[in-house]
Amino acid sequence: MDLVMRRSGGRLAGPCALLAGALALGTALLGGPAVAASPETTLHELASAQGRYFGSATDNSELTDTAYTAVLGSEFGQITPGNSMKWDTTEPVQGQFKFAKGDVITDFGRQHGQSVRGHTLVWHSQLPSWVGALPPEQVEPAMVNHITEVATHYRGAVTAWDVVNEPFNEDGTYRTSPFHTAMGSDYIATALRAAHAADPEAKLYLNDYNIEGLGAKSDAMYALVTELLAEGVPLDGVGMQAHLAVQYGFPYEMRANMQRFADLGLDVAVTELDVRMQLPADATKLATQSSYYQRVVEACLAVERCVGVTVWDWTDKYSWVPSTFPGQGAANLYDENLLPKPALAAVRTALGAEDDDGEGEGDGATLKAQYRTNDSATGDNQIKPGLQLVNTGSTAVSLQDVTVRYWFTGENGASTYSTWCDWSPLGCSAVTSRVAAWNPAAAGADHYLEAGFRSGSLAPGASTGEIQLRLNKTDWSRFDESDDYSHSGATSYADAAKVAVYVGGELVWGIEP
Ligand code: XIL
Repeated sequence: MDLVMRRSGGRLAGPCALLAGALALGTALLGGPAVAASPETTLHELASAQGRYFGSATDNSELTDTAYTAVLGSEFGQITPGNSMKWDTTEPVQGQFKFAKGDVITDFGRQHGQSVRGHTLVWHSQLPSWVGALPPEQVEPAMVNHITEVATHYRGAVTAWDVVNEPFNEDGTYRTSPFHTAMGSDYIATALRAAHAADPEAKLYLNDYNIEGLGAKSDAMYALVTELLAEGVPLDGVGMQAHLAVQYGFPYEMRANMQRFADLGLDVAVTELDVRMQLPADATKLATQSSYYQRVVEACLAVERCVGVTVWDWTDKYSWVPSTFPGQGAANLYDENLLPKPALAAVRTALGAEDDDGEGEGDGATLKAQYRTNDSATGDNQIKPGLQLVNTGSTAVSLQDVTVRYWFTGENGASTYSTWCDWSPLGCSAVTSRVAAWNPAAAGADHYLEAGFRSGSLAPGASTGEIQLRLNKTDWSRFDESDDYSHSGATSYADAAKVAVYVGGELVWGIEP
């Protein structure tokens, strides 16, 4: 009972969004008692309070990662398929439509109360080669057929479409594509009309990058949409991708640029926000990144017709950047271990969050867990996690109130355990340890090792230093650690989201399984 309450009730402090997301989903997945989770306000809730949505791109392969989907499903109110509605996926062979992957995304959105942005109907890239091989007179019917089939299939499931993606070159001239070659710039109006005929409810957008600020490319988009509106072509908005980079500076006059489109009676959306940097990341680049994220959100909030912000996935773990821009990365709000980066707090602040410092709950404690394995043999009869805690807050934390959990599976054999502290600069006499069952069991987790402290206090910025823990079953049968929830092969200490820290029984760090 105690466990259930901790997992589903109580307001969270500390690492906020990530934990909140994990907990909210944990409750839903467990199907446990109907105790309403009241986690810290999510990004989407913050945005909603300002009349906006906050969304993320996602992709089919990522949806098997349950720590990922926990956050995706709870923190965001809108999702965009990163690839699964593109032409090469939906019509790889002329006339043969494949919607299974896109359907997975719309199903996820429906299950989590999220709107879905359709991306994208007409684009020069990720276009199967048969389109470019068509005789010019067959391109228009093929394009119209593609739009009709795809937009009809997703009618009711998709609220907005990027009908045409990336129509312009950097200098504002039209980009060459099979569509432009066959139809000239008229292909854009034709595409919009076809999309409107197939789904009159969907909001129809033109989407491009490097149109966030004033400049030649956004001038070209401005001229195009002005003309389309004058001709009565169905068009609802302009999508600004916002793939930014700290080394290229912030878009020039982003708010004013958004406003001029809004003044035409169009909606504006930030559709693919990320802020990449040359690797390795450092504190300076991360600070610049934070300010860029914050300024984009502020620009959107300052323009009434800016309807929302979508990040091009929320974690560095699934970013498109490293494979597209070699040597660059770290572009997202959370790092590769799904831990919040400074940019997340900046976005929350921009969205009006008041309580990001963890004050008021959990004694205001902000602790993080770091982990390494002290055991290279994952198949023997002992598990040897090295753990240490760091106080990231500004007040001292009494260690007597603190517990740390490391989850594993017991495999077959005895269900009783022995635990040891082998060494710690704190002195092992100050450390307690035990194994308890985790009910209900989750993937990689039917037991956890819990460490606690008999005494001591952790000053702001201080670390406990390592605590070398060890456990075995009382029958000394073997483990398979390789699939254990909290296990990783890390041989030096690193922040560990799958090791949880509690203060007074309240989760302040990590994601429970
Ligand atoms: C990217 C995807 O994220 C990648 O997985 C894929 O390999 C290439 O495309 N602008 C867009 C998106 O409009 O469709 C692109 O998505 C990123 C740039």
